Amino acid sequence: MAQTADPVTMEKITALCKRRARVWEASGHLESFTDPLVDCRHCGQRFRADHLQDLECPEKPSKHPGEGPNCDLTEARAFNLMFETTIGPVKEQGATIFLRPETAQGIFVDFPQVLQTSRKKPPFGIAQVGKAFRNEITPGNFIFRTREFEQMELEWFVPPGEAERWFEYWTEERLRWYVDLGIRSDHLQLRPHGPDELSHYSSQTSDVEYLFPIGWSELEGIANRGDYDLRRHAEFSGKKLEYFDSATGERYVPHVVEPSAGADRATLAFMVDAYDEEEVEGEPRTVLRLHPRLAPIKVAVLPLVRKDGLPEIAQRVYQDVRRRVQAEYDEGGSIGRRYRRQDEIGTPWGVTIDHQSTQDETVTLRDRDSLQQERVPIAELAGELERRLDADWTTPKSG
Ligand code: GAP
Repeated sequence: MAQTADPVTMEKITALCKRRARVWEASGHLESFTDPLVDCRHCGQRFRADHLQDLECPEKPSKHPGEGPNCDLTEARAFNLMFETTIGPVKEQGATIFLRPETAQGIFVDFPQVLQTSRKKPPFGIAQVGKAFRNEITPGNFIFRTREFEQMELEWFVPPGEAERWFEYWTEERLRWYVDLGIRSDHLQLRPHGPDELSHYSSQTSDVEYLFPIGWSELEGIANRGDYDLRRHAEFSGKKLEYFDSATGERYVPHVVEPSAGADRATLAFMVDAYDEEEVEGEPRTVLRLHPRLAPIKVAVLPLVRKDGLPEIAQRVYQDVRRRVQAEYDEGGSIGRRYRRQDEIGTPWGVTIDHQSTQDETVTLRDRDSLQQERVPIAELAGELERRLDADWTTPKSG
């Protein structure tokens, strides 16, 4: 039987979606969120015109597109990156909607509600983590550029005269965030955008770049969006988006400074930066030198052997520490193999329960990076792990 939609419901949904689609008109994305695209008339492939030097000609991979003997590229044209779809079970009755290409716009649209309910005074920020979707022309390099990804954005609302100062503040702060979480500072740099690179909403942008294996590439962008977004949404909705300071009688449209980070790209940078290979006692060792706060498992609890009462003590230790830090219990395979497994996933500490543990209630605590082991009383173990987790940490990895 053909599926039909309740006409009243569909009418309401359509009206709502039309209003939602207007958000992307107001934000300028429908008109300006584009990348330059070229087609090859010979092979039929499409490329980002500004990435040709990083791409391979599909027919002659030793050459860049446009440099192969048969390449025949068109002039560059603007390609809109918005993902368009139709809402509702019947395509013809549905309204056109767009998947968000950035999380920021929801924050601008919600600005008056947040202002009213939180009673904040600029400077203040609204942050959001969530999915974003872009019809990228050339996705690739593992999770560096994908069509569905996760953004972490902060819209920082400030009095108009303070935007430049806050732009500087957030640029430094965001660079520091990566260093504090263990990324080598000589693998990070700030790169200000030239005037021809700026997004349609930005008067000033700096990228935090990381030296990925593909070369220096964008990790995060910090933009001075001025009053562009609030003014455009006010214009399109007919509602004022202002801050009124009742103490001074001052009324203004706040300016916005926006640090916008990609969670996937940051994950890639943290993993690339942490990856290490070395030789230990003549054997190769692969180790992920993640900052302990980033490591998914903080401690592995390992009975030396699966007998003599050691698994029982190890289980008791595991049940105790897992209430305080993320822990894993592993009794399968040789102790050396179990250490290597944990090294590869970046677990900073390993606890081994051996025969001495049955005598004196102590265990060995092994450090992933220095490989040093010390004996710690079981009663003090969880506290010691928390202390180490809280301590400052810099990567031992060089080069
Ligand atoms: N609201 C501003 C904005 O969206 P952007 O520079 O286009 O700015 C911010 O994106 C961050 O989102 C980038 O620095 C990057 O980390 C991440 N990002 C953007 N496009 C991406 C993609 N296709 N795949 C993975 N991450 C992406």
